[in-house]
Amino acid sequence: MAKTISLTLKVWRQKGPNEPGRFETYEARNISTDASFLEMLDIVNKELTLQGKEPIAFDHDCREGICGSCGAVVNGHAHGHERETTLCQLHMRKFRDGDVLVIEPWRSRVFPVIKDLIVDRSALDRIIASGGYISVRTGQAPDAHALPVSKEHADAAFEAAQCIGCGACVAACPNGSAMLFVAAKVSHLSLLPQGRPERWRRVQKMVRQMDAEGFGACSNHYECEAACPKGIRVANIARLNREHLLAAFRARLFGEYPDIKVLPPSV
Ligand code: FES
Repeated sequence: MAKTISLTLKVWRQKGPNEPGRFETYEARNISTDASFLEMLDIVNKELTLQGKEPIAFDHDCREGICGSCGAVVNGHAHGHERETTLCQLHMRKFRDGDVLVIEPWRSRVFPVIKDLIVDRSALDRIIASGGYISVRTGQAPDAHALPVSKEHADAAFEAAQCIGCGACVAACPNGSAMLFVAAKVSHLSLLPQGRPERWRRVQKMVRQMDAEGFGACSNHYECEAACPKGIRVANIARLNREHLLAAFRARLFGEYPDIKVLPPSV
């Protein structure tokens, strides 16, 4: 039979973007250690609803560590203390009976709070919209061996492609930098032959959009790597810097990309 634990939760409650927020305390009693963190919040929300109170708003979708929707800071750790784990995949067996959990939304100027634990991460969407894609004619899938890719590049691209865009890297960084996110997308696409034709333009556009949104710069704290639920390494940031520098040289030498514009940020 599953063990149960009881916890005290101090949860950030905020009615809306322009409302003041505050911590409120709730008791989470007899929570199965087999429950996930989000299931624990579901149980607390059911209690709050039965009491006629407003449930805690939090983002989620797949609950399988895939979509990047979930996320909150738990006792100072983005996605909680368990490494390489999203909040939805964090299980209550990782906590002890009687623990006090302080639960807050991502803290970043670029991610304004919408409600309680939900923040507006559309800045990341605009960075993707600026260039985080490849342009191809669709049709039949080509033969798997039609585009040879070295094992080294395939492995590095695959690692970078695991980024789920949750924003934990931004929340963990003292500079509020999104460079791990941008680096993962740039690395993933520039390492593969399909992403090469738009390589230089892509990095210019994504970095310009990242700067326009107001994200900070990387100064090597490595907090992003520690918080990333997919274990994406800061080596990707070094690749981003190299790609951006080379793209800037090309722009200077050949006058490329004079037409690049940034999308209007929301904050
Ligand atoms: S809900 Fe999809 S990653 Fe957590």
